[in-house]
Amino acid sequence: MHSTWKLNTKVIHENSQPNPQTKAISHSIVPAVAYAFPNAEMAAKAVSGEVELTYYGRYGNPTLENLENKIAALEGGEAALGVSSGMAAISTALLGFLKKDDHAIVTQDVYGGTFSFFNSLAPRFGIEFDFVDCTVVSKIEDAIRQNTKVVYIETPSNPKLTILNLEEIAKVCKKYNLPLIVDNTFMSPYLQNPLMLGADVVVHSATKYINGHGDVVAGFIVGKQDVIHRLRRKVMGDLGQNLSAWESSLILRGLKTLGVRMERHCSNAQRVADILEKHPMIKKVYYPGLPSHPQHLLAKKQMKDMGGIVSFEVKGGLAVGTHFINSLKLAMISFSLGDPETLVQHPASMTHASIPPAERLKFGITDGLIRLSVGLEDIEDIIADLQIALLQAEEVMVGSKEVL
Ligand SMILES: Cc1ncc(COP(=O)(O)O)c(C=O)c1O
Repeated sequence: MHSTWKLNTKVIHENSQPNPQTKAISHSIVPAVAYAFPNAEMAAKAVSGEVELTYYGRYGNPTLENLENKIAALEGGEAALGVSSGMAAISTALLGFLKKDDHAIVTQDVYGGTFSFFNSLAPRFGIEFDFVDCTVVSKIEDAIRQNTKVVYIETPSNPKLTILNLEEIAKVCKKYNLPLIVDNTFMSPYLQNPLMLGADVVVHSATKYINGHGDVVAGFIVGKQDVIHRLRRKVMGDLGQNLSAWESSLILRGLKTLGVRMERHCSNAQRVADILEKHPMIKKVYYPGLPSHPQHLLAKKQMKDMGGIVSFEVKGGLAVGTHFINSLKLAMISFSLGDPETLVQHPASMTHASIPPAERLKFGITDGLIRLSVGLEDIEDIIADLQIALLQAEEVMVGSKEVL
């Protein structure tokens, strides 16, 4: 690593040298499962973990290793572990710190899959948890029990874009000697680095911005060398959540444009949020780049930019909201986010459907809430698509009032 390199240079050049044999500039794909040892003693050392070597495909491969080193450097961590999905990263990280009768504090505004992990899987292993409003840091301190072993947060959150104070929460965790795990998916390492603000472990769904092209499901865990080593050998390897060399190669390619993609996602999203906020058919817009967002100043302090996700409520509730989504022509109805294409989804019936309606409402996920992953298209086309669909939604709303 070159210590003076800025982020865009790092994204491209970090841990990238031409292949010593072929001189190829782009990375090599090494899908081999087995790796030969010079002697039996070295094989024993690799298996015991005394020496860190790629030796069997379920624990890693050289293409992934290259990618893991890049992700670690971009997040400012000692090491990274690439796994088969964002949920694999989240479950591996949590299972690495929690065992039977332990307790976790979890931000209440959390991705549906994480909610499901705590509600349905964790109790089967005797793991206890409390969902806490982590926007008020003192509530974390109040929720700490004798058996609390981890604090888990997501910022910005999916889908409400709640921003949590990383520095303040990290201070509380340090005070009580609790590891802080942060889901940094919405920001990517380009826009926010929680480890530099005091977090212990960062998790990512690389399915989103890190790969950025909607053709890989993957995840990463970043943290201290000993933590990552333990998670690789004692959790991920046993669960078999490895990431293949082929998928690592796609991510290595996608990652090279992370900076330009994130800058474009952010500028497009800001324009969309500004326009939606003034639109008469919109009840509320959630975007940290808007001065009306409750944590706008905090977002400006801890994030390099505001991200590509805009959530909002259309007036008229579920029926009008559904009509609006169905009227969009450019934006596609889809579960994912962070792709070049603008994607739209309805959290209550899609990503957060696993959360019971009453619980969803507690977290502010109303039936009218819509999440837009603003893509890389020309902003004029994205805005025109939204405006036409809003006009059609308005006609439906006016029509239904006339019928009444
Ligand atoms: C914030 C966040 N974390 C984690 C995940 C899970 O990622 P994956 O689908 O790669 O398992 C998602 C998926 O949408 C997400 O939005």
